[in-house]
Amino acid sequence: MNDEQAVVDLRSDTVTKPTEGMRRAMFEAEVGDDMVGEDPTVNALEAYCQELFQKPAAVYCCSGTQSNQAAIWSHCHPGDAIVIEQKGHLANYEGGAPAALAGVTSILVPGEGGMLDREHLEGSLKPREQHFPWPRVLCLENTTNIGGGRAYPLDQLERATGWARENDLKCHLDGARLFNACVSQSYRPDQVARLFDTVSICFSKGLGCPMGSMLVGDEQIIKRARRARKLFGGALRQAGVVAASALYALRHHRNRLAEDHQNARRLAEKLAQIPGLSLNVDHVETNVLFAEVDRSRITPQEFSQRAAQKGVKFYAIDATRVRFVTHLDITAEMVDRAAQILHSIMLELDSDSIWECEASSSRVY
Ligand SMILES: Cc1ncc(COP(=O)(O)O)c(C=O)c1O
Repeated sequence: MNDEQAVVDLRSDTVTKPTEGMRRAMFEAEVGDDMVGEDPTVNALEAYCQELFQKPAAVYCCSGTQSNQAAIWSHCHPGDAIVIEQKGHLANYEGGAPAALAGVTSILVPGEGGMLDREHLEGSLKPREQHFPWPRVLCLENTTNIGGGRAYPLDQLERATGWARENDLKCHLDGARLFNACVSQSYRPDQVARLFDTVSICFSKGLGCPMGSMLVGDEQIIKRARRARKLFGGALRQAGVVAASALYALRHHRNRLAEDHQNARRLAEKLAQIPGLSLNVDHVETNVLFAEVDRSRITPQEFSQRAAQKGVKFYAIDATRVRFVTHLDITAEMVDRAAQILHSIMLELDSDSIWECEASSSRVY
């Protein structure tokens, strides 16, 4: 299938298929039993991440949910609370896992674009006394997902984690798309990681792997996280087959994330011209973008259904917004074609409403 026929799938960067080079690396991977520390490829991947993030330990996990929740479980006691932006993925989209697995509640703090700064956090904590859940860890997300694909500037991360330290909180980073942030903001992974006790990264998003995440931190916390991974049913055996995809992606797919960002920007500029859609192009910093849909024309759900019938897929996120995500399998040509199709859907609505108007006028008069 060539680009002209292919469905343009902008639902998520999780829809990518492994490239040929990645498949070859997976095929050739040396493997062993990871549960007893004998998978050489998993060990190499963990060592690679320790170096990249300048952290003493790392544990390879099945998913971002697992590495985030292993971190929460490891930092907290039942009855504790995590502090997190109100749209944060790990509190809102991981099946209620902080409560279900670690016995902790969430203090949801409104931020901006899914990001928190000192001014949002000030005053969010209750005293550590018997009535209240005890706040234990500040969780930030970089880049933000439902917040709109925003990337934290380094000084904002410093301010937010600085506030956490002053308030005796640990810091966890949900870095499912941290490499997108690194490319967008021109900082290194270790410059971010030094501010956090634990950092979770995903290989199955922009990096294009079939699965897998990594949690990095110090020896003690990662020892607990390894225990959590086992408890959650995620301890692995010959996982080198998939770890090889992550090693391949870290070496070959990190810098190319800039292309996804350019394509997202290209899409945003085109969407901003379409009647019935609105978005702030300047907020498109990475590969995730949201547009507001004018509900007097069409609901986000209907819009996404009509578009899917014409070969463009994206998610309706809530009552007013749709989300588009660019990735490894999206080209600039596909972006242009998607924008054209979406534009034609909105124009069709205009002509439908003229017909409806005429039909209704003939009925009435
Ligand atoms: C910000 C963020 N964190 C964590 C996750 C969870 O990753 P997984 O789907 O691998 O469990 C996602 C998935 O979309 C995400 O967007």
